[in-house]
Amino acid sequence: MSTERTLVLIKPDGVKRNISGAILARVEAKGYTLAELKKVNATREVLEEHYAEHEGKPFYEPLVEFMLSGPIVAAIFEGERVIEGFRSLAGTTDPTTAAPGTIRGDFGRDWGTAVQQNLVHGSDSPESAEREIGIWFGK
Ligand code: PPS
Repeated sequence: MSTERTLVLIKPDGVKRNISGAILARVEAKGYTLAELKKVNATREVLEEHYAEHEGKPFYEPLVEFMLSGPIVAAIFEGERVIEGFRSLAGTTDPTTAAPGTIRGDFGRDWGTAVQQNLVHGSDSPESAEREIGIWFGK
């Protein structure tokens, strides 16, 4: 098994609620290494590239609008099997039913908004990770 990299995004809901540090601390506490970190206001162009595979799905446009609604924290984490490890730490997509102990399960819920605010994004494969790191960090 070789060391992997993954892209982690703390979505605008996490940044607005001032829990970016708490979220990053959980990833570090699991033993992954923070390689890069920045706070950005994403452009529509970046988000359309990032979410290209979901274009046309019902949640696509609200999701892009939500991601444009405030700053995002973008990070690269490294470690053995960090891609699946982070996704396990994040929990399932719906924060209301995500398992307690996960980031979404402990910090998130349905707020009755049009779009699901689920705090974090993590790459889902080595190929996605390299593509997404290129989009957000240009390397
Ligand atoms: S799919 O269709 O199975 O590929 O969808 P899924 O993998 O669960 O989610 C893909 C990304 O879309 C986000 N998502 C949503 N955002 C807002 N509202 C709704 N209803 C919604 N459904 C899915 C989900 O969080 C994934 O985005 P990221 O950024 O990877 O978390």
